Amino acid sequence: MHHIILDHETDFDGWRQSARTLALDGVKPEDVMWSVKGDEQLFASTDTAALSPPPTETFSVSAKFVALAKIAILHRDRERFALLYRLLWRLRGDHDLLDIATDPDVIRITAMAKAVRHDEHKMHAFVRFREIGREREARYVAWFEPEHHIVELAAPFFARRFADMPWSILTPDLCAHWDGFAISFTPGVSKAEAPTSDRLEETWRRYYATIFNPARLKVKAMQTEMPKRYWRNLPEASLIKPLIAGAARATDAMIAKAASEPHKVQKRLEEPMRRKTAADELETLREEAAGCRACPLWKDATQTVFGEGPKRAPIMLVGEQPGDKEDLAGKPFVGPAGQMLDRALVEAGIDRKLVYVTNAVKHFKFVPRGKIRLHQKPSTPEIRACRPWYERERAAIGPVLVVAMGATAAQSVLGKATPINKNRGHLIDLDEKAKALVTVHPSYLLRLPDEDAKVREYERFVSDLKMAAAYLRKSAHAA
Ligand code: URA
Repeated sequence: MHHIILDHETDFDGWRQSARTLALDGVKPEDVMWSVKGDEQLFASTDTAALSPPPTETFSVSAKFVALAKIAILHRDRERFALLYRLLWRLRGDHDLLDIATDPDVIRITAMAKAVRHDEHKMHAFVRFREIGREREARYVAWFEPEHHIVELAAPFFARRFADMPWSILTPDLCAHWDGFAISFTPGVSKAEAPTSDRLEETWRRYYATIFNPARLKVKAMQTEMPKRYWRNLPEASLIKPLIAGAARATDAMIAKAASEPHKVQKRLEEPMRRKTAADELETLREEAAGCRACPLWKDATQTVFGEGPKRAPIMLVGEQPGDKEDLAGKPFVGPAGQMLDRALVEAGIDRKLVYVTNAVKHFKFVPRGKIRLHQKPSTPEIRACRPWYERERAAIGPVLVVAMGATAAQSVLGKATPINKNRGHLIDLDEKAKALVTVHPSYLLRLPDEDAKVREYERFVSDLKMAAAYLRKSAHAA
C-alpha cells in the first residue's frame, strides 16, 4: 500500500506530482491511500510502500481533466484525491472517459466541481465586511464559513471588486488579506476573532429594510438564493422574518397610498444648474454643485465631491468619480488611488500643492453589495451631465495643462470618447491657452493582478506625469 501525504487541503501540485509518479510506476488506485499533513495518523497502522523518486518521463491528460481536477480538489470530501487518481488512471486507457455522462466516477467528480463553484458563488454574494478603525486607518473584516476549501479560489474576486479598500476575510480554514497591492493568506481562525458589528451595521439594516419590496417578495426563491446556513453571518438576517411576516400588510398600504409629488425644493433643484452665478469663482461653484441634480447619481451618494486645490493652479488633474472613501470624506483622491497618485506626483517632481484635483463626475456611482458599495463606471449621459462643472472649474482656474486620468476623464476633458493608449504620450491642444495630456487612472494600476505589469505600468504613469512636469516648467519660463 502507498500512503501519500499532501502538504495541505488544496495541494493540487503535490497531488499531481504524486499521481503522475504512481501512474508511471503502475500503482493501481486501490493500492493508494491519500491524506493531508496532520491527518496522517489516521493511517499510522497501515504498512506503506515507498514512492519512487519523481519520474523524468511524463504523460499528458486533457486540459479538461486538469481544469476539472483543480476545482474538484477543493471539495471537502476526503475521497476526492483517490477519486481523482482513479479517474487519471482510467483516462490513460480511455481518453474520452469524461464525455461519458453516466459513468459513476464522472458523475461524482462533476458534482464535486459544481458544489465548489456554487460555494464560491455564495461566498461572493454573502461576505459582509465590517469596518474596523476609522478613515485612513479603516480596515474591513468579514467572517465567512465556506463549505469547501474555496478561500484561495474566491479571494481574487474581492481584490478586483474592492481594490480600493484593505480587507481581510476570516474563515476557519484560511484567512485572505488584501492590502491594496497583493492578496496574502494566513491560517484559519475561530469566529471569536471576527468583529460582530460596526458603526455601519444599523445603517445597513435600515438600508436593507428600505430596499425590501414587499410587493416583489418570493419567499421560496429568496430562500434558495440565500440559504439559511448563511443567515447567522448576515447583519440583515434578523430582519428577514419580520419583513416577510409584514409583507402582505405593507403591500396593501403601498397600493392604498397615492403616488407622491416631488417636494417643491427638490423640483427646483432637479432643473440642472438653473441658477447662474455672477462670477465663476470656485467657492460659488462648489456651493452650487452641492445641490446638483443634473443626473440621478446624487440620490444615492453622500455628497457632491467637488475639486480641490489652488485657485490659480497651473495644472489640473481629472479623475473619474469619487470612490467610497471620497464620497464619505467629501474630498477627491483621499483613498488608495489618491495615495498612489501622491506617490507618482512626488516621483514625477510635481508638487501636489500646485495641483487642482477634480473628477469628471462629482457623485459616487455604486451598487450596494452587502454592506459594501461597489464602484460602477459612470455612463455617457452622466459624464455629459457633469461636464459643465468641469468646464466651469477649468474656466475659473485657467490651468495651462489638464491631465485626464482614465477613459471617463478623457471623455470629459476632450468632449468625446478617447482611447487612452492611442492618445497618451503627447500633448493635445484644448484651446490657445491650455493643453491636455491623457494617461491611465491610478485605480487601474491598483487593479493589475500581475506584479511585473504593475511595476511597468506605474513607471509609464510616472513618465506621463514627468512629461506634464516638463511642460509646466517650459510654460513657466515662457510666461
Ligand atoms: N478615483 C477617482 O477617479 N477619483 C477619486 O477621487 C478617487 C478615486
